[in-house]
Amino acid sequence: MARISASVYTSHVPAIGAAIDLGKTAEPYWQPLFKGYEYSKQWMKDNKPDVVFLVYNDHATAFSLEMIPTFAIGTAAEYQPADEGYGARPVPKVVGHPGLASHIAQSVIQDDFDLTIVNKMDVDHGLTVPLSLMCGQPQAWPCPVIPFAVNVVQYPVPSGQRCFNLGKAIRKAVESYDEPLNVHIWGTGGMSHQLQGPRAGLINKEFDNAFLDKLIDEPQAAAAIPHIDYVREAGSEGIELVMWLIARGAMADVNGGAKPRVAHRFYHVPASNTAVGHLILEES
Ligand code: DHB
Ligand code: FE
Repeated sequence: MARISASVYTSHVPAIGAAIDLGKTAEPYWQPLFKGYEYSKQWMKDNKPDVVFLVYNDHATAFSLEMIPTFAIGTAAEYQPADEGYGARPVPKVVGHPGLASHIAQSVIQDDFDLTIVNKMDVDHGLTVPLSLMCGQPQAWPCPVIPFAVNVVQYPVPSGQRCFNLGKAIRKAVESYDEPLNVHIWGTGGMSHQLQGPRAGLINKEFDNAFLDKLIDEPQAAAAIPHIDYVREAGSEGIELVMWLIARGAMADVNGGAKPRVAHRFYHVPASNTAVGHLILEES
């Protein structure tokens, strides 16, 4: 059977993608940020998964106000990096895993989570920047990736609790797939940031670090944070953090198993307008 061996959490700031693509990672502004991911890139090599289930949000790239799926699972064989206005990022295409993705869709929908099934879409910085941070600049991404898009852009957005429960359903789905695949689940986006309005530029280090603590040790309490608290404390785009709860809900300890091990924790400001947070949790 397939199994989840680790969860990874990371911000997805688009300027990080540009810094990588334009060869600026050693510049004084960026160097401390990329230093925090050195461990992670080695860890990815040492713990290469067969599939990454990548929870992210689309930023009005593949979807728009014309279509707003709350949860969308990619079941396609491949996905192209999107052109977000400056041309597509020079990164490899994303190879999917239609077999596992359609099994997860079947299982999770039968568990009462209404997913939108997507057979064709381009993937934006929400998905490609986490891959770049974790994998560097390879010719091809190290494994297939199942894109799982969450609406955190247009209200109403799903609650943290619903995301957490969905993570549990995803774990059950993975564990009932009849192939011995090693699966990582990634929760991406966040941490505190607000890109518009009078509070543009908001960063809340205290909230972010308390969220990291809670996510590790009291995941149920993290899941209970109401969306208004994210907006008040972490800014309008801080709501992206609910996506981390999908990955956390898929870990063993909240499904009757043992606590995960914190393999890596990193927090850094500044990076564009966003506080960058990053965690790697390994199943024991
Ligand atoms: C920034 C952060 C985001 O999450 C995003 O989607 C776009 C921009 C930023 O910090 O600039
Ligand atoms: Fe974003």
